[in-house]
Amino acid sequence: MGIAKMDTRRRQSRILVTGGAGFIGSHTVVELQQCGYSVVIVDNLSNSRADVVDRIAKITGVRPEFHEFDLTDRAKTEAFFASASDLDAVIHFAAFKAVGESVRDPLAYYRNNLESLLRVLEGMRRHGTQNLVFSSSATVYGQPDELPVRETSPVQEAWSPYGSTKQMAEEILRFSVAAYGLRAIALRYFNPVGAHESALIGELPLGVPNNLVPFITQTAAGLHDCLEVFGTDYGTPDGTAVRDYIHVVDLARAHVTAVARMIGGKTRSDLEVFNLGTGKGYSVREVIDAFERVSGVRLNVRTVGRRSGDVEQVWADTSLANRELGWKAEKGLDDMMRSAWKWEQALSRSRSAGKE
Ligand code: NAD
Ligand code: WQD
Repeated sequence: MGIAKMDTRRRQSRILVTGGAGFIGSHTVVELQQCGYSVVIVDNLSNSRADVVDRIAKITGVRPEFHEFDLTDRAKTEAFFASASDLDAVIHFAAFKAVGESVRDPLAYYRNNLESLLRVLEGMRRHGTQNLVFSSSATVYGQPDELPVRETSPVQEAWSPYGSTKQMAEEILRFSVAAYGLRAIALRYFNPVGAHESALIGELPLGVPNNLVPFITQTAAGLHDCLEVFGTDYGTPDGTAVRDYIHVVDLARAHVTAVARMIGGKTRSDLEVFNLGTGKGYSVREVIDAFERVSGVRLNVRTVGRRSGDVEQVWADTSLANRELGWKAEKGLDDMMRSAWKWEQALSRSRSAGKE
């Protein structure tokens, strides 16, 4: 392939992926390696497992360099950047992401999500790494007044401490790029779901999942008696809430294009913001129907009241990312459900083999 061939003739670009053992990070490491990048992961394994690194190596044939430490640790993060001055870019995934948990313990979220970003920015600044890709979230929009939601839509008052950390992080980036001569791309993800087709990597929900797709696959695997549909009285065609679900592999590929854009000096401003979704909204009911169709498993479903804090409907205008990044989501809802189910079945097999 073009990129890989080109990279064998010059030094491979070297990318730090923080949170690279996690759900989106691990898929991104795979796509980066498959495009010829050299990857170093930093992760404290607070929400992931060390064997993800072996699994990445199994998929790509290349073992990424891995450092296990907490990025809120100033001394360790400084020592890491001091010894890694050859980085061409950083993709910063590392953060806590459970909305409900953030409401119960806001300070843990501000501490982890903001301190890790500050330590990374300090390390980049002191040791001359210019390019940062940051994991932001569609949660910054709340319930937008206009759909599909564009990057220029106003950021609404945060509904959770988690969402607040993403808004604050974008502000930190806005002022830091200008002051320190850095460049950043903030990617606002809509609803990432699915897993790698190998079923070697995927999402590892700790405890009972709050998100729809892991709850569906766990219910189908017999871990829950029934799936609850939160709200059937929304102003949507079938009354259930609508979201823009995006396959994690499509999302991962967008990070590769963002990194290439930065390294190639193609950014149009010091801080760029892109929505990452498919541009299509699906209702909870449609997601359940797609899952049942591709898996052949019928779910026991119960309708209950709305979940507090949920917005009615949101989906992305992705035209900016399509045009500027030259990226477009390729995988549809059926691919998302099929891969999520394959991953759940792989988890079930390792559970019965006593490995979970
Ligand atoms: P994840 O929990 O699977 O991955 C995050 C990784 O970061 C984990 O491996 C965890 O161990 C690590 N980590 C957390 N804090 C750390 C620290 N202080 N030092 C070192 N490592 C640390 O989550 P994910 O779903 O892959 O999300 C990645 C990023 O994308 C997060 O910033 C998240 O907020 C953002 N995001 C996720 C979603 C989603 O629905 N999954 C949606 C929008 C945005
Ligand atoms: C989707 C829809 C639920 C579970 C969350 C975060 C957001 C982002 C992505 C990080 C909603 C319904 C769910 C269930 C259901 N993360 N649902 N039964 O809430 O859109 O977004 O994850 O940035 O910040 O808030 O995703 O998967 O939880 O819910 O009916 O058991 O499914 O009410 O309408 P959400 P979700």
